[in-house]
Amino acid sequence: MLSQQEKEINQETSFRKLHHLEICLKKKVQSHETTRIEDFSFVHRAICDLDFDSIDTSVVLWGKKLQLPLIAAAMTGGHPEVRKINENIAIAAQKLGFAMGVGSQRAALEKNISYITESFRVVRDLAPDALLIGNLGAAQFGKKWNYSEEQIARAIDLIQAQALAIHVNPGQEVIQIEGDTYFQGFWEKIKNIAPSIKVPVILKEVGSGFSREDALAVQNSPLAGIDIGGLGGTSWIGVEALRLENEKASLNYEIGNLFWDWGIPTALSLVESRSVMNKVLIATGGIRNGLEAAKMIALGADIAGMALPFLEAASCGLEQIEFLVKKFQKELKIAMFLTGCKDIEDLKKTPIVVSGYSKEWMDQRNIAISMPWRQQS
Ligand code: FNR
Repeated sequence: MLSQQEKEINQETSFRKLHHLEICLKKKVQSHETTRIEDFSFVHRAICDLDFDSIDTSVVLWGKKLQLPLIAAAMTGGHPEVRKINENIAIAAQKLGFAMGVGSQRAALEKNISYITESFRVVRDLAPDALLIGNLGAAQFGKKWNYSEEQIARAIDLIQAQALAIHVNPGQEVIQIEGDTYFQGFWEKIKNIAPSIKVPVILKEVGSGFSREDALAVQNSPLAGIDIGGLGGTSWIGVEALRLENEKASLNYEIGNLFWDWGIPTALSLVESRSVMNKVLIATGGIRNGLEAAKMIALGADIAGMALPFLEAASCGLEQIEFLVKKFQKELKIAMFLTGCKDIEDLKKTPIVVSGYSKEWMDQRNIAISMPWRQQS
């Protein structure tokens, strides 16, 4: 039987997280816009002087070696019903050598209830060697919530995280009916507090991406990088609108539909960011296979991430996650094989051609089509 405190929680953060999961699994939550990765083409190499089986997809990030440049992006934790999803992803991460981000740890910091903290802690228990990234929200760093250094340390320690992502999601919060829209002061606070946090801190969008202006601000700050979270995949503005679907007269339902596709497509957000930033870049938002990830890495990402495909697989079981990851790795390897790349360093230099909407975007934003940050051979 649930205590009064547990009942309250169920009606707040962790219940909302459950509703989010349900909507993501049952409804069409993707953006109608694409990531624009289709505007970027590899150049095929017929003279392929490589052994397919020796192609090396491994990378090292924050001191951890990954077997492939893939992260299961931040999704969940905080409710007994989602624990199984975290468990399945963690077991697969340990076995196959990909990284994992946990969902917002806010509920675990605000209420010290064992089933909430355990749904996060279990991830480290099952993936003792994996690269894990903690997660908190930018709104909790504004003057209203004002998280302390001690609370932040607790979130990191809970999963012995190698890095901490602070999600910036103003689009989602402004459409969410109970959303926190008081972001004022958060950026100063994070910049001040980051040097005293014991792991690298990054900013992370959830579906609207980062501009060059934002990336430059991160470059000139003590933060360690960005998770793009660009447009083209799950629309969190859309998910919040869908939560209000049965109240069609509601303002936020109507406005959420208007802003459903708001943001910078992932591939363009990536070139915007990489054009001014030499810190870690994680490409998430609409990446659905290893070929798209290969292109994102060629454009400047250090690692690619997926959320919705992991959720769909994890809700079916461990086997489906293994299938997803093995397929992703083979697709990535084939893209490397056909472009003559023996490892990820080669992939970062291989020629890539830009056309259409993305070329026009880069022209207007004064981003060199030659992408000088890529040391092409
Ligand atoms: C998310 N995402 C997310 N991000 C974050 O920083 N903290 C969070 O708690 C969550 N929660 C969450 C729940 C679920 C069910 C999903 C599907 C996603 C956002 C996620 O990490 C990612 O940035 C976006 O979903 C875009 O990637 P995809 O889904 O298009 O691959």
